[in-house]
Amino acid sequence: MPPSYRNDPVQTEIHSGMQPFSIVTIALDRDSGKLLKLWLPSSLLREIPDYPGDGSFLDWSGGSAPDVCLVDFDKGAAKAFNIAELIHQDNPNTAIFAVSSDDRPEVIIQAMRGGCSEYLFKPLVRDQLLEALIRAGSRRRERKERASAQVLTFIGAKGGCGVTTIATQLGALLAGSKRTFLLDLHPSLGDAGLYLGFASNQCHSYELMQNADRLEAELLQSLVLHHYSGLDVVPSPNDFDSARHAPTSAITQTFNVLRFLYDFIIIDPPAGLNEHTAKLLGHSDYLYIVTVAEVSALRNVSQILEHLAQEEIPDERIRVILNRFEKRSPIPDSQIEKVIRRKIFRTVPNQYEQAVRTITTGESKDDLSRSDLMRNLKGWADLIAGPTAQAIAASASANNKKKSGILGFFGGGA
Ligand SMILES: Nc1ncnc2c1ncn2[C@@H]1O[C@H](COP(=O)(O)OP(=O)(O)O)[C@@H](O)[C@H]1O
Ligand SMILES: [Mg+2]
Repeated sequence: MPPSYRNDPVQTEIHSGMQPFSIVTIALDRDSGKLLKLWLPSSLLREIPDYPGDGSFLDWSGGSAPDVCLVDFDKGAAKAFNIAELIHQDNPNTAIFAVSSDDRPEVIIQAMRGGCSEYLFKPLVRDQLLEALIRAGSRRRERKERASAQVLTFIGAKGGCGVTTIATQLGALLAGSKRTFLLDLHPSLGDAGLYLGFASNQCHSYELMQNADRLEAELLQSLVLHHYSGLDVVPSPNDFDSARHAPTSAITQTFNVLRFLYDFIIIDPPAGLNEHTAKLLGHSDYLYIVTVAEVSALRNVSQILEHLAQEEIPDERIRVILNRFEKRSPIPDSQIEKVIRRKIFRTVPNQYEQAVRTITTGESKDDLSRSDLMRNLKGWADLIAGPTAQAIAASASANNKKKSGILGFFGGGA
């Protein structure tokens, strides 16, 4: 479980509209721990009392790694080095600080080689710690400012709710005015490429992630499929091997690269919450849960929402989409909202013929005037990327910059 930010008035005050920053300490001695609590009362401190035996602690809840990890090197430099290396490999965006009383150069060099960006001597000195935090924070802020993409992840309440239809068509519409990328993360036989009219591909999403460490703009351009709408697509593997997994580090690195190159990154993962979607939660600016008005799908929506609440994914990042909406549905939307205890963010009309036509022809924006479905999706795309959305985003970002106080240095969130 992640530390709770919810009832922390100081975090709320400092970070209103911004993502709170988090610090994890590993095997940190008591005195240093006390000092941290004293100096950073509003920080999200989580303590891991000893060196973890394996890497399972790296499954930070919802895939959101902490901003800073303080690793004590005094209880076993070799173990501490291994932990730092593991964190660095898996979460290259986490700043690692070594904390130690040992001033031998070889230990300091070893810590730096393990991925530590700072080496803090005991007893901790307040100003040195804050300066180190500010340095790490400004690196995060730079990353954020240069990489302004929004990641939109669509999660089906169950298979067949319309995730791929919506993700592909919305993606094509967004691509009309924004640099947009669609990643089909089904481990096998996803439909996104097919729905956009591509029969074959050079590279699938899992190959892309395997090569994340050498990924750059030019290589990416040669690997993606270019849809006529302007949408760039990397489809799923086209075989039956459904046991594929992408390591957390590869996912993080892939997002790091994509966020620099695109305005919107749309993810089409397998339906429901599973190990694939769990790793995406922390990377997603918005989670769209796509459902239909059926009992089993709605039950799943409730369970997904419950899980997201447990993972402390902020409410404003979660949006429920009711697809195949009919005015005279046996389950009216008012009842759906009662069952899922949340407002439906958007309804998408039930237009089977139009939906199938977009798939079989790969058509999208050409169809706008004739199709209720496409008009609806165009309205949604405008809401996400149109002039009003852009003005709101710009003013929120300006506000966030103004609000950044001493602990606001960690930069804005989704
Ligand atoms: N708004 C809609 N109205 C009618 N049919 C739809 C709509 N959205 C999707 N469909 C149809 O539902 C089926 C499943 O859609 P798909 O996008 O493949 O779902 P998923 O990716 O969630 O499994 C397809 O036949 C598609 O044409
Ligand atoms: Mg699908």
